[in-house]
Amino acid sequence: MTEPSVSSVDELVAQARQQVAVAITLEELSAARTVMLGKRSGLVAARKALAQMAPQDRRQAGQALNEAKQVIEELFSAREAELAAAARTQKLAAERLDLTEVTQQSKHGYLHVITQTQQELEDIFVGMGYKIAEGPEIESEWYNFGALNFPEGHPARDMYDTLYVDYGEPASTLLRTHTSPVQARVMESQAPPIYVVAPGRCFRQDTADATHMPVFHQIEGLVVDKGTSMGHLAGTIEAFTSAYFGPGFTSRLRPSYFPFTEPSAEFDVQRPDGTWLELGGCGMVHPNVLSACGINPEQWQGFAFGFGIDRLALIRFGIGDLRDLWSNDVRFLEQF
Ligand code: DAH
Repeated sequence: MTEPSVSSVDELVAQARQQVAVAITLEELSAARTVMLGKRSGLVAARKALAQMAPQDRRQAGQALNEAKQVIEELFSAREAELAAAARTQKLAAERLDLTEVTQQSKHGYLHVITQTQQELEDIFVGMGYKIAEGPEIESEWYNFGALNFPEGHPARDMYDTLYVDYGEPASTLLRTHTSPVQARVMESQAPPIYVVAPGRCFRQDTADATHMPVFHQIEGLVVDKGTSMGHLAGTIEAFTSAYFGPGFTSRLRPSYFPFTEPSAEFDVQRPDGTWLELGGCGMVHPNVLSACGINPEQWQGFAFGFGIDRLALIRFGIGDLRDLWSNDVRFLEQF
């Protein structure tokens, strides 16, 4: 073994400096550390060689070796800190989520055209002092027809193209064909005076075309109070017409027939250009209906009205085909 000279000590340091510089990962640095400081390193060999040296030289050489070892260790730990920091930065960069991009891509949801129309109608009636009522979409024959003064086998039942549900006695359960059964449920469960509107889905056996769907929406109105007259009904329809359609629109009632109202009428809305839009049915609640729902017709009178929501949505948004509202093509729906 050659004794460690000053130059060979310097060489060890230079070698370490170079090894440290070329290590670009923590693994490479650790391998280089083994070479420079491990059991088989030049440093350890030089330390062993000290034993063969003359005592007077040994001290100085030993000191030089210690200093070199310290310098080399510092070189490694400085580089290690540097590489660890770089690795951390790189890891953070790789794990980073670009949240700005996500926000830009996502769009806020919005309400369907029919829901928007329904809510607008609700707002108008709530503004007039009405409460919102709800009833089930799967209904009993009694609420859909019986309580509304459609006697069994009455031809008026045939106008409704009813979809029956295979549940209980045959023809006892159905998908409600109008929102009028909510009238009966409200009168049965609430004491008058009553001022409610009931929006919701209705169902009839119908072939889908531009203006009809087997699933559609209606809004029902019901008032039960003392001294209620046809004049109140006409005034209410008129107030609604100008609130929803705006100034320049007026309404009229035309005699008609519904089993649950007497007298019954259809109501139309006149556009500023003079043309008429048929909107829905209305009338004074039939005394039989009041009685069937536990209200004394000698004390209380009421009026009711009902009309389709879907057609209003078509008119309001200038949509030509009802089926487009159901295809759920976002490119179509997001225009409204
Ligand atoms: N339920 C009727 C229908 O769907 C519409 C209707 C007519 C509702 C007269 C009423 C009313 O409340 O009084 O054809």
